[in-house]
Amino acid sequence: MLKAFAAALVAATFLTGAARAEEITIAVGSIGRDVDEMRGQLDAFQKATGHTVRIVTMPASSTDQFGQYRLWLSAGNKDVDVYRTDVIWAPQLAANLVDLTEPMKDVVDQHLPAVIQSQTVDGKLVAMPLFADAPALYYRKDLLEKHGREVPKTWAELAETAKVVQDAERADGNAQMNGFVFQGAAYEGLTCDALEWVASNGGGQIVSPEGEITINNPEAAAALNRARSWVGTIAPQGVLGYMEEESRGVWQTGNAVFMRNWPYAYPLSASDDSPVKGKFDAVPLPAGESGVSAACLGGWNLAVSEFSEHKDVAIELVKFLTSADSQKARALGTARLPTIPALYEDPEIAERQPLVAKWKSVFENATPRPSAPTKAKYNEVSQQFWTAVNKTMAGQGDGATNLQDLERQLRRLKRNAW
Ligand code: GLC
Repeated sequence: MLKAFAAALVAATFLTGAARAEEITIAVGSIGRDVDEMRGQLDAFQKATGHTVRIVTMPASSTDQFGQYRLWLSAGNKDVDVYRTDVIWAPQLAANLVDLTEPMKDVVDQHLPAVIQSQTVDGKLVAMPLFADAPALYYRKDLLEKHGREVPKTWAELAETAKVVQDAERADGNAQMNGFVFQGAAYEGLTCDALEWVASNGGGQIVSPEGEITINNPEAAAALNRARSWVGTIAPQGVLGYMEEESRGVWQTGNAVFMRNWPYAYPLSASDDSPVKGKFDAVPLPAGESGVSAACLGGWNLAVSEFSEHKDVAIELVKFLTSADSQKARALGTARLPTIPALYEDPEIAERQPLVAKWKSVFENATPRPSAPTKAKYNEVSQQFWTAVNKTMAGQGDGATNLQDLERQLRRLKRNAW
């Protein structure tokens, strides 16, 4: 009798001591197969821990996601526990995110230090890296061969080749063919594309790492005027409204010679149902007048909301999804670039996702957007920049005039300090 009582007591203690299954929510943006891929990993987490995770699907545009997150966080929203965050947001959202320094202290060292540093604000680790991003120039091997052209190494060569191949294909009855597609819509993606045109032309990074406004210079103006000359000649007029998935749509149906896009587009373009399967490859972006190529540094991270009522499980999930196993599965499934350098030596990744293996140095040498020096004002800085670029490409003012105005606006935004 006493024995049975003791056993029951032990069982009861054990049960209350064991973690109860909880339900948490993660917010994830929908580009390519990211949401599907996330669902697969969340199912594995559920199986391993018993906790269930719901996905809130966010819009594709990084800018729209940022606006929504900012609203939710300023309203103290308890419904989202984990946010998938863009690499540029750390300084702007830091105040409402949990410090992950202590919970991640055994795993941070696996990641590239620069990435961890980009997510550290005043000593607080506000997010853990899920994957990095650095763009590629996708090109149609078959069309360049057919028309006897080389892969372009400079923007000038790209424009010339795009025009020749596009016009020849159109003359051959391929009326829908375009020379070049990229991200020209007025949103964060255009800041990335235009930073690449400007930086590769020797025009700097909009705002220097020391916080100085440098964008109003002749090299930057020339880069914008060059992009303006593409619209309606090698790029469709509609490119002024394209984000990543719109460019991929044109490219993947076979209607573009070149595309600027992130690595996620590679396995999608190579899939069995893709009309461009086996007909393309990808190389680093062309160089500008400076003679070097510039790739914008992108990437996504996971952060825990300070308003979460399930912080322990949320942290466990972040650890799981940013682990080497999880990053490897993500690289294999969607070509998302690992932030754990050791994975670039992984033979399975090298075999199944050759772009990932080749992209380590492109990612390590990528150009950051000025989110660190402009701190909480980065979003406004970027918005002013992409507006000036989009206007120039639409023919409203030239590069020099629009960059002069931009400098004035940025000075007003900065006042004495960022
Ligand atoms: C990619 C990048 C991200 C960037 C976005 C712009 O998702 O990873 O950093 O802000 O593109 O569209």
